[in-house]
Amino acid sequence: MVRVILVGSSGRMGRAIADAAKAGDAVKIVAGVDLYKIDCDFPVFDTPDQCDVEADCVIDFSNPSVTFGVIEMCKRLGTPLVMATTGLDQERQDALQKLSESVAVFTSANMSLGVNLLIRLSKMAAAMLEGAFDIEIIERHHNQKLDAPSGTALAIADAINDTLKEKDTYVYDRQSRREKRDPHEIGISAVRGGNIVGEHEVLFAGRDEIISLTHRATSREVFAVGALKAAEFMAGKAAGRYNMNDLIDSIVQ
Ligand SMILES: NC(=O)c1ccc[n+]([C@@H]2O[C@H](COP(=O)([O-])OP(=O)(O)OC[C@H]3O[C@@H](n4cnc5c(N)ncnc54)[C@H](O)[C@@H]3O)[C@@H](O)[C@H]2O)c1
Repeated sequence: MVRVILVGSSGRMGRAIADAAKAGDAVKIVAGVDLYKIDCDFPVFDTPDQCDVEADCVIDFSNPSVTFGVIEMCKRLGTPLVMATTGLDQERQDALQKLSESVAVFTSANMSLGVNLLIRLSKMAAAMLEGAFDIEIIERHHNQKLDAPSGTALAIADAINDTLKEKDTYVYDRQSRREKRDPHEIGISAVRGGNIVGEHEVLFAGRDEIISLTHRATSREVFAVGALKAAEFMAGKAAGRYNMNDLIDSIVQ
């Protein structure tokens, strides 16, 4: 059984992961890190530096304010990290890259297998439609989400851009511009409301035809299941960078 330290254990995703782990027998949550305390059957520490529990992997679904602490904890314990927190700035991305020189680091803005299929389909569509279709990404999330646009919307845009022969620029805010749409741009729009778990739509708008690819998560369980699979995959891995493509490849092999 893979032993996991869960950072952000009292949050929406933390609770979903603890429930999913309890429902299966592959992963056991041995400790949590969270400033906020709820009833649970593992010890929860206020900060990562207080956590000295032996584990096979750390899963982080919390907030960028704790990222450096999590990195230090993984270095100190020599434990692989599954980093799922979004909205990390360049300094934090660089620190994760540095960490990966000594421990295994898995990052994914979206732990759902379905979204990763959406990314692959979007790349295929972009390769076929380049030049003739405008690309817009629309993401919708609940009204408590802090970062915008979502990490997943940016990951989809980056994957599409990697595929394009001529690179596009990203446009987030049309309200501040009074000019026609440039064909070499990807528009990214964020919608926030209610308790929408997470929706990503990639729109390819051409002359007289529109292709729309959509992924809709109806429960946080999809991310929880993906994160637990990532923890299983990462236990015992050598130092380096890993992502959802490595996990999917290991499943379909
Ligand atoms: N990669 C994915 O698939 C995926 C899916 C869903 C959410 N997320 C990301 O995961 C993160 C958490 O999402 P959520 O909806 O569970 O948020 P949430 O606000 O419900 O939970 C965050 C938890 O982190 C704790 N926390 C915040 N700052 C802390 C600190 N400095 N020290 C200790 N604990 C701290 C909070 O007390 C809270 O319990 C967000 O960045 C979100 O975008 C990623």
